[in-house]
Amino acid sequence: MAALTPNHQELAKQLAAQAAVKLVKHNDIVGLGTGSTASFALSALSDRLKDGLQVKGVPSSLQTEEQAKALGIPLLPLGEVGEIDISIDGADEFTEELQLLKGGGGALFREKIVASLSKNRIVVVDSSKKVSQLGAFKVPVELAPVACRYVLDQLATLGGKTQLRHKNDTLFVTDNQNYIADVDFGLIADPQALAIQLNQIEGVLAHGLFIGLATKVIMATGEELVVFEQDQKGS
Ligand code: 5RP
Repeated sequence: MAALTPNHQELAKQLAAQAAVKLVKHNDIVGLGTGSTASFALSALSDRLKDGLQVKGVPSSLQTEEQAKALGIPLLPLGEVGEIDISIDGADEFTEELQLLKGGGGALFREKIVASLSKNRIVVVDSSKKVSQLGAFKVPVELAPVACRYVLDQLATLGGKTQLRHKNDTLFVTDNQNYIADVDFGLIADPQALAIQLNQIEGVLAHGLFIGLATKVIMATGEELVVFEQDQKGS
């Protein structure tokens, strides 16, 4: 697939996000993702609110919460919600089998909770995110600072080359006051098996492998939309 220019990529993100927001129904509880593509979905949702749609949003990060408040989207706190009707979030990589790699924006822990609570999980991407195998993008792993050394050693035992994430020369701290290790496992032959291994490390709060957590991926390639759904290769 030909690479998108930055302008086309922004348009594609917007198009995918707008298509996803059309799936939101009156009175839905909506999981609000994080990142530049999810941000377009927030704008499109606020446009629909102006047309009379009523929903409640559940933000997956402080950044998203701030944007949603500024756009006038009524919110429910993630920790108090038992079920979400539909969530809309981006991804850093996805495969046709709907395996995702997420967490580039550092919101993976709350994003995974939002996805886990959601009945309908919509992922919005431009075509640069489509891969045949996950792993060119490093796997973000959110870890408790108190377990930092232990977790880094365990990740190395699994064959990962780890790097603690920094921002402006200081350690990146998540909304949950944790650190993120970005882990290079190379191309991942069995993402589900690796996800299980990562889940078993004490001190790991979440990792960026989202397996079985997408209902539908809406991918825009410029002006065209391609939809990937469970048990379907694309339409
Ligand atoms: C944040 C995420 C984002 O969904 C992912 O990084 C994609 O972001 P963008 O839409 O800006 O490319 O997982 O933690």
